[in-house]
Amino acid sequence: MNNWYRPIWGMVGAMPTRADEIRAETATVLASLRGIWDEEAVDEWDHAMQAAARAIDDGADDELVLASALHDIGHSPLLGGPHAPDHSGLAARWIVPRFGARVGWLAAAHVAAKRYLVATEPGYAVSLSETSVTSLADQGGADVDPEFVAHLWHRDALRLRRYDDAAKDPEAVGAPIGYVLDLAHRLAR
Ligand SMILES: [Fe+2]
Repeated sequence: MNNWYRPIWGMVGAMPTRADEIRAETATVLASLRGIWDEEAVDEWDHAMQAAARAIDDGADDELVLASALHDIGHSPLLGGPHAPDHSGLAARWIVPRFGARVGWLAAAHVAAKRYLVATEPGYAVSLSETSVTSLADQGGADVDPEFVAHLWHRDALRLRRYDDAAKDPEAVGAPIGYVLDLAHRLAR
């Protein structure tokens, strides 16, 4: 039997799987959020890791935790950059081919969820950060979109929005990056 290739594979290790590649891409896109400032209090890296941590604290399922970590990747310089006009759509287009429709929809829905909560929950608007209030106007303001309300994952989108809003604390501890990347590996498609 011709097994000349075996020593070579032994030297270079196993070929990376698609899940390995997606884990590495997720690491790169998350790392690119370091030093990108959308909010006043935390950069986008801390914001992402804190959103994931709040989701874990709340007992969210793995897809919701990953969507929380990735919800603002549209601000990455590798995607649209900090001032991208449609950062939620950019996130969904990056996420869906890698992690499926639910993770992508949940990540993108944090804008619709904010508009919905401003329209329906007394006191929510005044709880928002200054940046979120400013961006609300650009995003169309308060709105109850019947399609959003009727959506199967509507409640999970509202949960993610709470994690997003809570993930702007300079003193808070974020989720470990290894935990988030292991989720990415497990959920990769
Ligand atoms: Fe956010």
